[in-house]
Amino acid sequence: MSLDKQKIIELLTTTDAETLYKQADKIRRENVGDEVHLRGLIEFSNICRNNCLYCGIRRGNAQVKRYHMSENELIETARKASEIGFKTIVMQSGEDMYYTQARLCRIIEQIKKFDVAVTLSIGERSYEDYKAFREAGADRYLMRIETTDKDLYHKLDPEMSWQHRYDCLMMIKELGYELGSGIMVGLPEQTIDSIADDLLFLKEIGVDMAGIGPFIPHPQTPLAQEKGGTLELALRTMAVMRLLMPDINIPATTAMESLHPQGRIKALQAGANVVMPNVTEGEYRRLYELYPNKICVNDTPVHCRSCIGLKIMSIGRKIGNGYGGHRR
Ligand code: SAM
Ligand code: FES
Repeated sequence: MSLDKQKIIELLTTTDAETLYKQADKIRRENVGDEVHLRGLIEFSNICRNNCLYCGIRRGNAQVKRYHMSENELIETARKASEIGFKTIVMQSGEDMYYTQARLCRIIEQIKKFDVAVTLSIGERSYEDYKAFREAGADRYLMRIETTDKDLYHKLDPEMSWQHRYDCLMMIKELGYELGSGIMVGLPEQTIDSIADDLLFLKEIGVDMAGIGPFIPHPQTPLAQEKGGTLELALRTMAVMRLLMPDINIPATTAMESLHPQGRIKALQAGANVVMPNVTEGEYRRLYELYPNKICVNDTPVHCRSCIGLKIMSIGRKIGNGYGGHRR
């Protein structure tokens, strides 16, 4: 659907929220059907070379107990996730250079043997790295642009370059990955006008997946005193994304559920068609704390898989049994 910026701003602000959610739900059903695709999320390292102001695992947070999984631990976690039915494994971490190109390629090759799609979410790397990971079998790449307001981006990530992140997204696309990107809403100083620009940007670069999450202030970061995003703004933004790009994959994000116990179900009824249950095991779940009140930190992968499965069925939807790529 083509919507101009003014119309997007209206949908984000004055349109009745329930009307917007119903419309997004209808467009979702007509274009991607009732299946909800599950992705098993492995948080394999909380070590990061970056210092993004909003992020709980930023380099400067000395209170974090750091970890990274060994090669075997990561492969084993993926194997178990595939055995409980996940057809996509998402490997997410901070920018941890212990994971060299060669090490990651070995891991990807092993995980691909479990008959799963592999999504990487490991931040900014070189073109050679992205190319090698793709050749090793990685299918998708997930990296949020966070905001298209470049001044705001540079305030929040003072050592990083918006242009470089954008260039990385273009490399990923050129290499034939399915491209996932997205934003946070409710960042300090972020305006509705800039969120409208963000949505138009995601459409323009042609993402295959768009993740929209509320910013939740972490107490051990410089943004501890900020207000953060609301569930309503996150849901509205996500619903407009569905209207703009009817056939892409849109996750009901974990951060939404951290703000409300039914956050992901509300999202699935307002345009979303993907959920990414955590399949990380043991203490690592708690240590990968991007924001406070993270859900399911004491649960097991099997528990999370069945809990979300029941929730999905309770709203009359079904769990997809394929890889769940972008249906163009
Ligand atoms: N390092 C990789 C990257 O940069 O893409 C992946 C990990 S990064 C922690 C994953 C996402 O978490 C970020 O893109 C950001 O949108 C989100 N995030 C970080 N801190 C957050 C916070 N305080 N509230 C909500 N989301 C947050
Ligand atoms: Fe690197 Fe958050 S600052 S993952």
